[in-house]
Formats: sequence, C-alpha cells, structure tokens
Amino acid sequence: MIDSPTRQLADEHEFVLLVVGAMEAEAASIERTGRVHTERVMQMVDFTRNFTDGDHHTKEEDLLFPLLEERSASAGGTISVLLSEHGAARDCIRAIDTALPDADSADPERAAAARAVIAENLKLYAFLLPLHVGKEDTVLFPLTEELLSDREQEMLGEEFRRIATSPGAAETAERYHRMAHDLATAPAR
Ligand SMILES: [Fe+2]
Ligand SMILES: [Fe+2]
Repeated sequence: MIDSPTRQLADEHEFVLLVVGAMEAEAASIERTGRVHTERVMQMVDFTRNFTDGDHHTKEEDLLFPLLEERSASAGGTISVLLSEHGAARDCIRAIDTALPDADSADPERAAAARAVIAENLKLYAFLLPLHVGKEDTVLFPLTEELLSDREQEMLGEEFRRIATSPGAAETAERYHRMAHDLATAPAR
C-alpha cells in the first residue's frame, strides 16, 4: 500500500525541518564565534537545492499545485502564497551560496560582510520554512484531501512513488536523509 501524497510530503517535511534546525544553529554559531563551518553550510545548500527544492518543491509545484488550482479558484490564493515562499527560500539559498567563497577571504572586511550575509540568510530561511511547512501541514494538505477524490489521491501518490523509485532516486534520497540526520545531530560549535 502506497502512502497518500500528503503523507509522503509530510514525511519529507520532517527531513526539511531537521536541516532548518541545523541552519538556525549554524547562524547562531557564526554570530557567536565569527567562523563559518564551510563544509556544513555547503551541505545545507546541497540539501536545500536538491532535496527540498529539487525533489520536494518540484512535486508540490509540478504535480500537486496545478491539480488543486484546476479544481478550486480559492486554492489558487493559498498556492500563490506558497509559491512566493518557495521563491523567498530560494533567494536565501542563492545569497548564502554566493557569499560562501568570501567567508574565509584574506580581506577581513570582505570576510565579515560575507559571514553576515550567510548568518542573516540562514536565520531568514530558518524563520520562513517552519511557517511554510506549518501552512502546508494545516491548510494545504487538508485542502488536498478535501478537493481530490480518493482515486485521484491514490494516482498522485503513485506518481510520487514512481519518482521515488526511478533509477538512482532511492540512493539519492537515502544520502539526503542521512545528511539531514548528520547535520541535525552534530550541532555547530
Ligand atoms: Fe512547499
Ligand atoms: Fe512542502
């Protein structure tokens, strides 16, 4: 029996939130120590780009949202808010990724500015994402269950499962699940 599409997305939210917690801890660490754990931040960028955006948000944006928009005009309002939050989250990650090479610059002013951008955007991401996930868990998922028939939910769940079982997908998901746990259980010092 395949999990419902909302169950599958809610399970992915757990991993997203593990990394969000690590991002918040890293921002606090940067502000406290004036150092960036470059390797960890690179993993956070990798995770958010490829798991959160590449996999999770793609399922939402390409499969779930269009289906709901087609079904109900009022769902369109909720979805445009959620889409703008996906965009804001991507902007944070882009800013972090751009600033990262300068965090260890020999020019102290340049390095301090890069560290401030990284900490600020990690904090902003860690503020935005739990609100976004909360909105999906409490508004989007009940709306999905209300607007889509059992058969439609089953078909969407099967489509998600097909993506998850495409060549290499299981290994990739496993790698990101492990990365999320590692980031969450080895807090930045
Ligand atoms: Fe989302
Ligand atoms: Fe989501």
